[in-house]
Amino acid sequence: MKQEDIIKNKKGKIVMLTAYDYQMAKLLDEAGIDLILVGDSLGMVFQGKPDTKGVTMGDMIYHTRAVARGAKTTPIVGDMPINSYKTPKIALQNAKKFLQAGALAVKLEGNQPKIILTLRKAKIPVMGHLGLLPQTAENYRVKGKIQEEAEKILKDAKELENLGVFSIVLECVPENLAKKISRALKIPTIGIGAGKYCDGQVLVINDLLGMQENFKPKHTKRYLDLSSEIKGAVTKFKEEVKTGIFPGPEHSFH
Ligand code: KIV
Repeated sequence: MKQEDIIKNKKGKIVMLTAYDYQMAKLLDEAGIDLILVGDSLGMVFQGKPDTKGVTMGDMIYHTRAVARGAKTTPIVGDMPINSYKTPKIALQNAKKFLQAGALAVKLEGNQPKIILTLRKAKIPVMGHLGLLPQTAENYRVKGKIQEEAEKILKDAKELENLGVFSIVLECVPENLAKKISRALKIPTIGIGAGKYCDGQVLVINDLLGMQENFKPKHTKRYLDLSSEIKGAVTKFKEEVKTGIFPGPEHSFH
């Protein structure tokens, strides 16, 4: 698929969510969202690590393959993990692995002209990512609050567009800066913690579903309280096994 076609003809705002496994990808696909991101956030939500800095290409390809089995129609973006795009040559080899695993595009963090040009020359669709860059960030604060930082993010966004990315994720930047960037670009911005003026929104699926009881950053919204639901179901199962209610005759072979 040509990169222009990945989010062409999308009506209204672009809706992207992360997925890391087959069943979730299938559900997101059936719900008809625009894009699935196999995010390196799997380092935290799947692997239980403190950040994305330990995620490897092996991890990403394993999860991309699983997601690709479930997402029959939704385009998949593979998130290039830290160290996977250190040089143009390494980036090209790794981006090709994402495409072979079922992704249609790759995402990478920051303004990396040589890497992006190399991938685009090979016709690999690239999504940019600016603002908070978890792979290199020293802290998880909002980026672009001070003027100098805001100007740099805007400049980087324009450069990324000129380099040929098809969309840019804006993570944790003030709403007004995201608005300015979104208006300055022809390509769509997809925000996470970047306010309502972006051309689309992305969330980590586990945050949307409320999978982690004590984790509720300001920029996410819980649409379910799945951690309580799951604990409730498991507790009920435990009680029914202990008291002999489960399995009943209807669950047994006679
Ligand atoms: O890894 C990820 O899930 C991401 C999103 C937060 C955009 O990069």
